Amino acid sequence: MSASDVSACATPQTGDLAAPRHVAIIMDGNGRWAKRRGLQRTAGHREGVAAARRTVEAVRDLGIEYLTLYSFSTENWRRPAGEVRDLMGLLKQFIVDDLPRLKEEGVRVRIIGDKENLSSDLKALVHRAESETADNTKNTLQIAFNYGGRDELVRAVRAAAEAAIRGDIKPEDIDETLFARYLDTHGAPDPDLVIRTSGEMRTSNFLNWQAAYAEYVFVNALWPDFNADILAEAIAEYHARERRYGGVGGA
Ligand code: IPE
Ligand code: IPE
Ligand code: MG
Repeated sequence: MSASDVSACATPQTGDLAAPRHVAIIMDGNGRWAKRRGLQRTAGHREGVAAARRTVEAVRDLGIEYLTLYSFSTENWRRPAGEVRDLMGLLKQFIVDDLPRLKEEGVRVRIIGDKENLSSDLKALVHRAESETADNTKNTLQIAFNYGGRDELVRAVRAAAEAAIRGDIKPEDIDETLFARYLDTHGAPDPDLVIRTSGEMRTSNFLNWQAAYAEYVFVNALWPDFNADILAEAIAEYHARERRYGGVGGA
């Protein structure tokens, strides 16, 4: 990439006080939340859905345009079959219960991840959620489900290679902008802030490409306990950071 390319895509370099446009959350700690109460892990996942619902509202109230929630990773298939089934069921239930309200509130719903390998009823529900909210413009809720950053990159590479073989694009035309069109998140801005709950400090294969310059905030609260106050604290920490994008900053 040349210096002129860098300045062409430059974002404000210092004291970035603008509100984050896109917040992404690694919702972690449902199992521990349940265990501490002597409950089954599923009870934690159920409370996790309630926290997700609260967070959609809180993000909307703050005027944040994009929210991405990491709900099920490509690695989560390693969990016991019963837990996997429960997590699939909870997404179905969430779509059935919440779609009417999301539609009414002008939220566009988009599922990112490998949708091909989901059951046919879940695929149909996902398709319904996306198509029935496609014209909404107020906020976008991206649900990362059967999502893995590496898997997304591999699928994007494959799609770009197929386009090149068809003659739709030339390999030499592939740059960061063109490549990003093949990602599940195409058209969405990169996340400004990635929050992970439960005190773990790793990304677990989340938005590997898109979060290249995101600010990370790790909070100790377990996901079912997440609320508007914790969100506000994370955003305050984001505002206290200096985003430098490789430059020298204002210090
Ligand atoms: C997050 O909570 C939900 C998913 C990953 C699906 P966990 O289920 O990972 O909870 P912990 O990390 O075991 O506490
Ligand atoms: C990350 O949480 C995935 C989701 C929140 C969906 P995990 O609990 O699966 O991550 P690890 O196993 O602790 O890295
Ligand atoms: Mg976990």
